[in-house]
Amino acid sequence: MSLTAVVLAAGLGTRMRSPIAKVLHPLLGRPMAGWIVAALQELGADVVVVVHHHEGEVRAGLAPWMPRFVRQEAPRGTGDAVAAALSELPEHGPVVVTAGDTPLLTAASVRRLLAAHRGNATVAAFEARDPHGYGRMVPGVGIVEEAACTESQRRIRLVNSGLYVFEAQYLRSRLPLLQPHAPKGELWLTDLVDADSHVVADFVEEEFLGVNDKGALAEGRDVLRRRVNRAHGAAGVEFAGLNDASVDVSVTMLPGASVGFGAVITGKSTIGGDVGPGCVVHDSVIHPGARILAGSVSDGAEVFAGAIVGPMARLRPGAVIRPGAHIGNFVEVKNAVVHEGAKANHLAYLGDADVGAGANIGAGTIFCNYDGVRKHRTVIGAGAFIGSNSALVAPIAVGAGAIVGAGSTITQDVPDDAIAVERALTKLTPNSADRLRRHYRKAADRG
Ligand code: UD1
Ligand code: MG
Repeated sequence: MSLTAVVLAAGLGTRMRSPIAKVLHPLLGRPMAGWIVAALQELGADVVVVVHHHEGEVRAGLAPWMPRFVRQEAPRGTGDAVAAALSELPEHGPVVVTAGDTPLLTAASVRRLLAAHRGNATVAAFEARDPHGYGRMVPGVGIVEEAACTESQRRIRLVNSGLYVFEAQYLRSRLPLLQPHAPKGELWLTDLVDADSHVVADFVEEEFLGVNDKGALAEGRDVLRRRVNRAHGAAGVEFAGLNDASVDVSVTMLPGASVGFGAVITGKSTIGGDVGPGCVVHDSVIHPGARILAGSVSDGAEVFAGAIVGPMARLRPGAVIRPGAHIGNFVEVKNAVVHEGAKANHLAYLGDADVGAGANIGAGTIFCNYDGVRKHRTVIGAGAFIGSNSALVAPIAVGAGAIVGAGSTITQDVPDDAIAVERALTKLTPNSADRLRRHYRKAADRG
């Protein structure tokens, strides 16, 4: 039978103290409500999201999941919110209803509630550590909201999770009859749950963490990180600890990869190699056998097997580090291919370039790619040697096997096998250092 699910996301979320819609706050690269919609779609549900506040943003933020949206004209409570979705519901069959701000809810739990569903309404309930604020499950009555609880009802710890399965027909017949509650005149969905409703009481509180402030948002991230990393771990990815690195859901992790303490991996990345402690990797491909060492940043780069990057290197968009190449500390690479076995081990800038196989780029070398108006390319031939602290003024080509002397500023192409040096000759004065020092001391003594 087809399944429809209604996600209530019309609330404002004032306590987030944030300019963006509450249900769009990201957790591991996916908006809060995206987690719920994805879990429901995992069950094959046709998802309807009820929106009001930040409507345009919420529609845009959830567009990747392509749910249907309905607008609740004026948010007047959870009953009114589901009523707004009635036009989108099928004539018959089960309808899952849940809130958009409980991103930890799993497809497995919804499936379990569906399997237990009978009659007109089935409610998921759990024993709350602190039931304050929840509707209480009162035997023989149904759900009693906190505000309406007697003293003894308030002590009940079994609470309404806000996840339900209703029969579509029951919603159609009963929602129009809801009566407003003082003082705000709200229509409560909970009034559809009565003594005849089925209660499934063994759900776990963790899955119903309501994200109402940024403390709960961080708590939610902790739980999701553990889940995501645990699943990658089961598939052969090594982590320092389950909560010690953050891997967005958009990332593909390959078996055999490892992720160090404090690493953050985001965007459309694919990781097969080692990502060291404290690395930040975004939209990058790190092939099996590649190593990104501590504190390195990679954005839009590709690193091949046997290549070593870092510690503390920076790869920018278009950096391609071919097999066995080395990019060392404080080396920045942008829009440049560094071919097999080439090395730039210390303190260099390789921008808009092609570095030939086996070339060696000395410490402090700068590819001067920008003339203040346009960018130009630097091409280094295979096996070339660029001495330390050289400036190569692009556009420029250094031939295969050529040598550039340390400290040179090179402004013209260097042919294959040539030596290019551009610096003043060293002036040498023998037996004079001590004489000079004595001269300086005398001057100092005279004041
Ligand atoms: C609700 C339940 C309570 C349950 C708790 C679980 C009611 C009356 N009470 O209380 O029994 O224990 O959830 O968390 O349902 N929303 C709309 N439109 C509205 C009002 C709310 O879309 O007009 C959305 C909110 O954005 C939110 C969800 O519905 O995602 C729940 O609303 P909320 O105000 O948080 O209900 P609670 O007071 O928590
Ligand atoms: Mg709530």
